[in-house]
Amino acid sequence: MGEGAKRLASPAQPATHRDMNILLIGSGGREHALAWKIAQSPKLGRLYAAPGNPGIGALAEQVRIDPTDQAGILAFGMEKRIDLAVIGPEQPLVGGLADTLTEAGIPTFGPSGAAAALEGSKSFTKRLCDEAGIPTARYAACSDRAEADAYIRENGAPIVVKADGLAAGKGVTVAETVDDAMKAVAAAFASDGASVVIEEALTGTEASLFALCDGRRATLFGTAQDYKRALDGDRGPNTGGMGAISPAPTLSPELAKTAMKTIVQPTIDAMASRGTPYRGVLYAGLMITPEGPKLIEYNVRFGDPECQVLMPRLGDDLVDLLSRCADGELDSATPSWSSDHAVTVVMANSGYPGAYEKGGEISGIEAAESLPGVVVFQAGTSLSGDGRLTASGGRVLAVTATAATADEARERAYEAVSRINWPGAQFRTDIAG
Ligand code: AMP
Ligand code: GLY
Repeated sequence: MGEGAKRLASPAQPATHRDMNILLIGSGGREHALAWKIAQSPKLGRLYAAPGNPGIGALAEQVRIDPTDQAGILAFGMEKRIDLAVIGPEQPLVGGLADTLTEAGIPTFGPSGAAAALEGSKSFTKRLCDEAGIPTARYAACSDRAEADAYIRENGAPIVVKADGLAAGKGVTVAETVDDAMKAVAAAFASDGASVVIEEALTGTEASLFALCDGRRATLFGTAQDYKRALDGDRGPNTGGMGAISPAPTLSPELAKTAMKTIVQPTIDAMASRGTPYRGVLYAGLMITPEGPKLIEYNVRFGDPECQVLMPRLGDDLVDLLSRCADGELDSATPSWSSDHAVTVVMANSGYPGAYEKGGEISGIEAAESLPGVVVFQAGTSLSGDGRLTASGGRVLAVTATAATADEARERAYEAVSRINWPGAQFRTDIAG
């Protein structure tokens, strides 16, 4: 009899109905969306969030532990007998939090530090693509400025310069001239003296694909497109993302299938054969080129705000899927999605991603959420001593709507935005337009 059957045979505590204590790590809109979906699970016992935010606080017990405080998170996890830890952001993953928790016997959704190199090191990912024959831009990894300049001169512009490390999308320059590319190289070496990756500039349309992975298998977990620039018309500086739509309009189910076969599964196979199996969600940033999908980059976590448009469309129990990944038992799970489209509009503090004032008061969330299919996920919010909700971060709210068509979802999302009363807000008016 297998282990699962043994557990099921115990009438006192059938495994499928045992309440699970879950610890969610992070404090952004992505984590609010995860908490919202986790809270709907019939398997949930208690939900804790370290540290969470006021939106998450309505669904979970917030604990004041920083996501990078591994010892603190481990101690809390042991004390509360956590059955599943879900790690939202990349920094604790790259720092090895999943290793610390799994070594102590706490099942964890999120890759090991070694596997998180798929996001933490661009040169690692490029080498892996080379070895596994994964379609991606041609490149050179240079730890020397003269070498980088020579490669740029040889290949000409347009060309892409990337700082090698976690840069939250800010370490990338798509240079239109050789001169601009060399300036980007100079800036990269001046700031940390590390190394750069220089890449062929791909042309096509961008889309994001998500896959759940259990170390051996990967299954498609939805598609989305985000809007990275701060201002309408894709102008202004790059941000973490000012809005998103799911499914991605440019990624057909056939193309997604191709990308799973030519990009994601070979990556999972290569990671397993290196002895660093990948468990968690793998977020593939793709360029859809005339030759098919090519990998731009990997992230080792859900996108923010892409997660906010995925969760409202997911038809299955998120807790079940995440714990199967953590346990290496994804088997043949194929997550089901609503045929609805979801659109999220990010409301940020004016000035984001540059300097901004904090403390503006926000109201109207209930009025927004009274619209059908609307949910407002919180990111940079705080509760003042007298219970008022204020805007304390860069990206503050992700106002999300689902509807039968993308047009209806967009209209509904903007109608919801208009019900939010917060004078200090900045948002794009052309998300999913
Ligand atoms: P990354 O941080 O690698 O996702 O890059 C940020 C953005 O830069 C991407 O979303 C693309 O818009 C752009 N980009 C990165 N690499 C390339 C490339 N090889 N060709 C064209 N655009 C790129
Ligand atoms: N929205 C882009 C990201 O999460 O990296």
